[in-house]
Amino acid sequence: MQNNRALIDIPDTHSRLFKTIGKVAEEAGMRVFVVGGYVRDYYLNRSIEQITDIDFVTVGSGIELAEKVARTLRAENISVFKQFGTAQVKYKELELEFVGARKESYRRDSRKPIVEDGTLEDDQLRRDLTINAMSWCLNPDNYGLLIDPFEGIQDLKRRVIRTPIDPETTFEDDPLRMLRAIRFASQLDFYVAEETLESIKKMAGRLSIISKERIADEVNKIVLSPVPSKGFDLLLETELLEQFLPEMVKLVGVDEIKGQRHKDNFWHTLEVLDNVAKVSDDLWLRWAAILHDIAKPPTKRFVDGVGWTFHGHDALGAKWVPRLFRRLGLPMDERMKYVQKLVRLHLRPIALVSDEVSDSAIRRLLYEAGDEIEDLMILCRADITSKNEWKVRKFQKNFDRVERRIKEVEEKDKIRNWKNPISGEEIMKELEVGPSPLIGKVKDRIKDAIMDGEIPNDYDAAYQYLVEIKDQYKETDLS
Ligand code: CTP
Repeated sequence: MQNNRALIDIPDTHSRLFKTIGKVAEEAGMRVFVVGGYVRDYYLNRSIEQITDIDFVTVGSGIELAEKVARTLRAENISVFKQFGTAQVKYKELELEFVGARKESYRRDSRKPIVEDGTLEDDQLRRDLTINAMSWCLNPDNYGLLIDPFEGIQDLKRRVIRTPIDPETTFEDDPLRMLRAIRFASQLDFYVAEETLESIKKMAGRLSIISKERIADEVNKIVLSPVPSKGFDLLLETELLEQFLPEMVKLVGVDEIKGQRHKDNFWHTLEVLDNVAKVSDDLWLRWAAILHDIAKPPTKRFVDGVGWTFHGHDALGAKWVPRLFRRLGLPMDERMKYVQKLVRLHLRPIALVSDEVSDSAIRRLLYEAGDEIEDLMILCRADITSKNEWKVRKFQKNFDRVERRIKEVEEKDKIRNWKNPISGEEIMKELEVGPSPLIGKVKDRIKDAIMDGEIPNDYDAAYQYLVEIKDQYKETDLS
């Protein structure tokens, strides 16, 4: 282990707070250090002002120091986690997390209690990555001293993700760190050191002991990184992807029959994801890109004279979305429904590019997509991944036309967020029947008449239409 000590300036932003904490520790005869993400982000020139979580490590009891700091700062909100030896002080908009230096692994979310106290160096070497193991001393005698025993600063400069000690030990302590290594590489556009990467490949299966919620947190950070394909490429290479989303691994590969090949749907999916990432930071739109072709493998067929087809992959993929979300620990609410909708509809705008497309087809898409129509168009445009620039331009122009048509039809007919102007109650009254599946049928008939432009989208026209058709249904009901 190499000691790399140099005096640096701590940023002004929190220097009053840091000095106070240093003084409190000094008076208690303790040493205190800022550690982890805050120090890393400072050297990455990330904006420190936006940081809300600051981690402190003390040689001694983290809980005791937190209590003293809270008293001095008059911060009333303090949470103590005895079995982890940590305490959190809420101070203004900040969450100050105190932990006693440990000899054993640093595991914030583990249920296993951590008992053995250690020195600062013991603590640093059990952290996940060299770039997360740097600290600044806050005691007055050494205020601002950088303690960087594993060359974290160098790794930041060289853009390397590396564990402080033998990667297998680091990953054995907490297998989530394998995912964290890739997450940081993807977020920061760093590369993963060979030895670290090899260990991940060897130990990928250990991810199975990690909760899906912790995995989802890291995966979502990869999805939200500037060029998410970078992270997914590493996830595939290390076989971590196989652990939590094997359906995506099945997209890899190209088949050839009679000289005809289809594209590799894994790399295509990543291109679509990167294309979406260029124009949107929305996590769920990015998930829709990841899952849009997920059901291509089981729907793949080779048809003589036609070539490769993937009929129904949109509907089947949409059907899979709830199961995948549940397994991945993603929310089972309207966000899942949104992703499901985009997966289901992702081919629909392509069917609308022809000149002769009717207003009715546009109305139906508007009705089904509702407020998601713009996001659906972003996904469709991102889905154009041809290498042929002429083709790309042509497809984009087609979508320009579809968007113009959508706008025209929406202005005219107000179909987006459409609700049937006639209620079930009114239909029951008019038909003189009670609740029955018939009511749904009549409602659909009115909807179809509006979508097909047979009648205008307003109450009077719809009511009039109901009066006209009601006898047909009365008969059906009686027969
Ligand atoms: N840490 C670790 N192993 C983990 C999680 C965290 O060693 N599995 C250590 C690292 O030193 C990390 C610090 O705990 O820097 C704080 O962790 P956390 O708040 O989760 O992450 P940050 O590094 O602050 O980064 P981010 O805010 O981007 O998640």
